[in-house]
Amino acid sequence: MDLSSNSKLSRLIGCQLSSLTWKCLALVTMVLFLRAVLLHSFSGCGVIEFNNQDLILSHSLLLSSNDEGIRREKFLEVPQIVWGLNNQKIAFARACLTARMLNRTLLMPSLSASLFYKEIDQLQPISFDKVFQFDKFNSLCNGFVRLGRYSDLKNQTGIYDLQKGSGRKWTVERDMEQLKQSSRSHVDEHEVIRIVGKNSFLWHDHWPVKDYARVFECLVLVDEISKEADKVVSKIRQMGRKLRSKTETVQSDSDADTEGPSIAVAPFIAVHMRVEIDWMIHCKKLEQRSGINQICSSKQEIIQRVGNIVSLESPTVVYLAVADTLLNDSSILRGWKKGLLPLEKKNLGVDGIYKKHPYLIQSAIDYMVCSRADIFVGNSYSTFSSLVVLERTQKMMRMGIKNSCGIDVRWPSYAYNIPGESNGPRKWMTNMSDSSLQAISYGSNAISC
Ligand SMILES: *[C@@H]1O[C@H](CO)[C@@H](O)[C@H](O)[C@H]1NC(C)=O
Ligand SMILES: *[C@@H]1O[C@H](CO)[C@@H](O)[C@H](O)[C@H]1NC(C)=O
Ligand SMILES: *[C@@H]1O[C@H](CO)[C@@H](O)[C@H](O)[C@H]1NC(C)=O
Ligand SMILES: *[C@@H]1O[C@H](CO)[C@@H](O)[C@H](O)[C@H]1NC(C)=O
Repeated sequence: MDLSSNSKLSRLIGCQLSSLTWKCLALVTMVLFLRAVLLHSFSGCGVIEFNNQDLILSHSLLLSSNDEGIRREKFLEVPQIVWGLNNQKIAFARACLTARMLNRTLLMPSLSASLFYKEIDQLQPISFDKVFQFDKFNSLCNGFVRLGRYSDLKNQTGIYDLQKGSGRKWTVERDMEQLKQSSRSHVDEHEVIRIVGKNSFLWHDHWPVKDYARVFECLVLVDEISKEADKVVSKIRQMGRKLRSKTETVQSDSDADTEGPSIAVAPFIAVHMRVEIDWMIHCKKLEQRSGINQICSSKQEIIQRVGNIVSLESPTVVYLAVADTLLNDSSILRGWKKGLLPLEKKNLGVDGIYKKHPYLIQSAIDYMVCSRADIFVGNSYSTFSSLVVLERTQKMMRMGIKNSCGIDVRWPSYAYNIPGESNGPRKWMTNMSDSSLQAISYGSNAISC
């Protein structure tokens, strides 16, 4: 903190605490915080984890001051949100953006804890606020979208059932027209508009990537889950420190917890390895249908490309984010380049953490670990990988980095299914000015780098 910002602060504290002053204070706090983050990050001492949530919070303070917000007494209700974690996040964001368009509060939807989406009775609904922080969501998204609870309902003007059309004749334009109609006509008099029909992941998409990104920013996991992810990350870093101290010949003291700072910040790579049998069947079909042969990657191809990443420091630990069913397949742990130590849940000793939770939460933990990795490598046709890269791209942009395709960015992401330089994976960043989420929800080989 330098003198000029100190004196600005004291001048502010000196004056009356009007609401304007509070806004100023918030602004100053934000500036100071950003300064601290930037100074900290560029001090050159290796790996630094930045705090995503604080950055978002300050960002929202600015936005909320000049936006009237969404109506609090009109609601939108949507069907239960289903499928994988990241399909659910997209479906949820689409429901939020639909509610925003109707200037309505979204009634907090149910998510699904299990992946058994074919049998409706096994969907295991789980309340949104068991996974993500409800109040935090509303404060971060204040002025943009709003979540309400069923207890907020007055039940006076009833529910209007809005049937979403389907089939080939139900075009994007017709869908949009229906939404516009609903926000004007007698339909809007109803307290609740309830959308019936298929899950919102399958609705037509009308919004740009940056609107989705704005909703994703407000999704903060409940402490209980984020603490589990913290445990996994610190276990991975601990293994990284051990690995480094073993190879550092000058080091006589090998106790990981008392190492100096250069070793305390051992970086790690996370690889979202999509090699499960159901994925292989899916991606082969996709390759045939689309005529693109860069969708499936074998274990060997992934291992080889990751090993060829140019900026890789060694030795480094590689966290393999793989589905549970693969845990017994020890072949994914073989064949890695010298200096890379592959870790999966079992040999890392964290499978107990995952086993306690249903599918959705396990996936949320893995997602956190991948977004916090120093290097992330995934498949550009996976929704999971695509959302991780979207979040990492956002982080970069908030740090002022407009293009992370360059060689020496701090948190690079790569797609292993597309060849890049030196037989490595291709650098990957999300196109934040894309006009729809199509590329992210269904995958693409156009990955901006
Ligand atoms: C939404 O509703 C709020 C509260 O009634 C109003 O102030 C705001 O102008 C509305 N916004 C739009 C885009 O209609
Ligand atoms: C309105 O109905 C919902 C669902 O039936 C119920 O949970 C809520 O408590 C009711 N609200 C009021 C104010 O009666
Ligand atoms: C994995 O292996 C262990 C012992 O080697 C066995 O007990 C367990 O049932 C196996 N799990 C799966 C999913 O095959
Ligand atoms: C990003 O998307 C926009 C809009 O679709 C397009 O015009 C632009 O070329 C894309 N940029 C890159 C780098 O792919």
